[in-house]
Parts: sequence; C-alpha cells; structure tokens
Amino acid sequence: MKPNKLSLITGASAGLGAEFAHQYAQKGWDVALTARRADRLDKLARELEEKYQVATLVITQDLAHEASVDVILAELREAGRHVDALVNNAGYGLPGTFFNTSWEDQAQFIRVLYTAPVELVHKLLPGMAERGFGRIINVASLAGYTPGSNGHTLYASVKAGIIKFSESIHAEAQAAGHDIHCTALCPGFTWTEFHDVNGTRKMASESPKWMWMEAGPVVEAGIDGVTRGRPVVVPGAVNKGVAMLTRILPEPLGREIMKQQSKRFRKTETD
Ligand SMILES: NC(=O)c1ccc[n+]([C@@H]2O[C@H](COP(=O)([O-])OP(=O)(O)OC[C@H]3O[C@@H](n4cnc5c(N)ncnc54)[C@H](OP(=O)(O)O)[C@@H]3O)[C@@H](O)[C@H]2O)c1
Repeated sequence: MKPNKLSLITGASAGLGAEFAHQYAQKGWDVALTARRADRLDKLARELEEKYQVATLVITQDLAHEASVDVILAELREAGRHVDALVNNAGYGLPGTFFNTSWEDQAQFIRVLYTAPVELVHKLLPGMAERGFGRIINVASLAGYTPGSNGHTLYASVKAGIIKFSESIHAEAQAAGHDIHCTALCPGFTWTEFHDVNGTRKMASESPKWMWMEAGPVVEAGIDGVTRGRPVVVPGAVNKGVAMLTRILPEPLGREIMKQQSKRFRKTETD
C-alpha cells in the first residue's frame, strides 16, 4: 500500500509547529516532527498516531548545529520516507540590541532562522521536482514587513529575507512548470510560547487582545495558502491591515510608529 504523504515540520514541540502537526495529521498526512525537546515530540507523536491513525517520525535535532539538516534528511532516508511538504517553522526572538548581544548568539540565530530553512529547501527541492509535487511553508512574520526596530535587531531582517526567499522559490518552481508551491506565512502576535522564550510575555500581554490570534487559524491560513499557491500569506484581518499600512505610509512615519511601539514589545537588555 502506498504510504500517506509526509510533512516535515521543524519546531514541532510547541506553538505553531505542534499545531501544523495536528492539522496535517488531521488531513491524513504522516508527519516527521523535529525540534530539540524529545519528550515533547514523543508525546505529540503518540497523540497524533492515536487520534488520526497516521505514521509519525521523531527526529530530535538542534538546528543551530551545522550538521543538523543532513542528520534530519539521513534519518528520513533511513526510514524510507521522502518529504512532500516542508514546514520551516522553528524560531525564536533574540532579546537585546545587536550591540549588546554576542556574535555567537547572533550567528546561532541566523543559522536556526535562516540558514537551516534555506538549506532544507535547497536539499529537498530536487526530490520534489523529480516526484512532481512539493509544498513548502516558511514561517516568516509580520515583522518582515514592518520597519526595523530598536532591539531584536536581526529578527525583522531575517524574516524579511524569508519572505523574499519564498517568493523567489515560488517563482522559480512556477517558471519550471513544477507542481511545487512555496509560501511565506507572516503571523502577527500569536498565542504560543514564543514570548515566554524571549522574555517579553509581560510586555506582550499588556498589548490589546484584538492584536492576537490563536495558533489554529494562523496555521489553517498557511496550509490553505500553500495549497492554493499563494507566495505570501498574512493571516487575520488586523495583520492584513498592518501589512497594508506598511506599504502605504510614508517611510519616516512608519519608522516613527515602530520607534514608539517597539518600546512596548522589544527588550533591549539581554538580562
Ligand atoms: N508567536 C508569535 O507571536 C509569532 C509571530 C510571528 C512569527 N512567529 C514565528 O513562528 C515560528 C514558530 O514560533 P512559535 O510562536 O510557535 O514559538 P514557540 O511556541 O516558542 O515554538 C518554537 C519552536 O521552535 C523550536 N526551536 C527553537 N529553537 C530551535 C533550535 N535551535 N533547533 C530546533 N528547534 C528549535 C522549539 O523547539 P525546542 O525548544 O524543543 O527545540 C519550538 O518547537 C517562529 O519561526 C516564529 O519566529 C511567531
């Protein structure tokens, strides 16, 4: 019997990644789950197997390690599976300014949020092209649209890069006539563990509730977008409004708004 299609999801141990795993499994896809916390991945895998009768594969890896992508792909090969959908989701925010954060932390951040996702796409595309099918969701952020901020310096630039990268991959695949879709999913504030991890939960919680989305509809918009072949998806009406404003406001005004707002959401000290 032909196996189900398989979705490889990075950062599957929490938040949006765990939600992607649920939604793909609910659609009858097998899922390969990767992140650093093995206990969480194992628990999620058992839950998905029982609830949706799909096959799961747990690959515990730290994407900050240079060999991590090759290890993930080797484990998939060993299990005799190929990837039909890739969800590049793992990520975090690095508090502090560029000035007061170590290069080691910055380099690791670029590796996890940019190099590893791009490497995964590069290494999975040939197989997708050969089999004539591929879906790629790169989780970017609304921060990739808004002006750069004081603090969390590389976050906006990395996410902007992920948006442009996704558009280009999508365009390349279309031009080559492959049934491969690539989508940058650009969430705004979403209830996950993201703000606990980067130490901004208290600041973020003081922001109005209408600015926030649950993980479910964000992920649903991403899967729907990649299915329809949309290169960029901004989920939710508020986030769409913000994205539109960044296109029509004069740049100095946009930067001034960011200057005022980033005090509320960005930590500029690392401790
Ligand atoms: N929540 C928001 O408001 C928001 C808004 C816009 C964009 N995003 C983006 O959404 C994506 C998912 O974040 P989230 O909100 O779901 O946050 P989350 O709940 O904190 O989940 C982050 C995931 O990334 C994994 N991860 C972090 N560092 C990793 C590493 N070095 N190697 C492998 N996996 C790693 C974590 O797993 P382990 O700790 O087990 O490794 C976890 O599964 C990120 O790319 C983030 O930038 C989030």
